[in-house]
Amino acid sequence: MEVHANYGVATMKIVVIGGSGLIGSKLVTKLREQGHEAVAASPKSGVNTLTGEGLAEALKGASVVVDVTNSPSWEDAEVLKFFETSTRNQLAYEAAAGVKHHVALSVVGTERLLASGFFRAKMAQENLIKASSIPYTIIRATQFFEFVKGIADFSTEGNKVRLPTALIQPMAADDVASAVGRIATGSPVNGTVEVAGPETFRLDELIRRGLAAFKDPRVVVVDPHARYYGVELSERTLLPGDDARLGETRFETWLTQSPAKAAAATR
Ligand SMILES: NC(=O)c1ccc[n+]([C@@H]2O[C@H](COP(=O)([O-])OP(=O)(O)OC[C@H]3O[C@@H](n4cnc5c(N)ncnc54)[C@H](OP(=O)(O)O)[C@@H]3O)[C@@H](O)[C@H]2O)c1
Repeated sequence: MEVHANYGVATMKIVVIGGSGLIGSKLVTKLREQGHEAVAASPKSGVNTLTGEGLAEALKGASVVVDVTNSPSWEDAEVLKFFETSTRNQLAYEAAAGVKHHVALSVVGTERLLASGFFRAKMAQENLIKASSIPYTIIRATQFFEFVKGIADFSTEGNKVRLPTALIQPMAADDVASAVGRIATGSPVNGTVEVAGPETFRLDELIRRGLAAFKDPRVVVVDPHARYYGVELSERTLLPGDDARLGETRFETWLTQSPAKAAAATR
């Protein structure tokens, strides 16, 4: 760590693995604005956590590694292999490089969603981090607003979107990136923190509002047994606990601020 001449604050080398992604690219910008040396690492920049390619070089002199990768495939076996291999490699290279804080982004309610292969993979990722010798913080976020269209897409049959009325407390990706940035520049918690949006919705209502704003003609119908990622939800499955830190951006504000971007978002 060194004192940055311009800002008078302690600056760090922070490697953002998945730095080209939705959260990663926002995070890298925010960290650089604060004067940190933020490195965006991903296959596009020659860093591959599945093969180890480029990791040793990227991690040289790094204090913090933030893992905001996602698997290209969400098929059960492939997504598990991705998060296990990627996490193992990151932790091994971090130990060799003397990294002092591993931060990873996971999902609120993961332990209640294990009927889904994707969430079994996220749980495996979390467990590897907890078992490692690197000080860590796991950040569990609720669903991103940017994921509204993705939820509609995987819940669509014909021109109908079938969804249960379970509660959901989604948040803007920009607020997720801010929260990850705050945590990455702080001390390791050696535990899990939750972040969530400022408002709670019924899942069917959230998607109906989003599709209306995107001028998407699909009709949202309530189906209490419709599955979310293959999981039957109960009322509070997706909700965070009472201690979650809340983002500021409201869904309606996000929809009106960036309608074109919102409509194009797929995850
Ligand atoms: N969607 C939600 O609502 C939600 C909610 C809570 C938490 N999360 C979690 O948030 C995390 C980030 O999500 P996101 O939407 O920002 O992801 P994203 O936009 O899909 O970006 C994924 C990133 O992973 C990188 N990547 C893929 N394979 C890699 C590899 N082998 N080695 C290194 N990097 C690799 C990609 O790099 P390239 O661009 O070079 O391919 C990209 O930078 C995920 O773990 C997800 O589980 C998501």
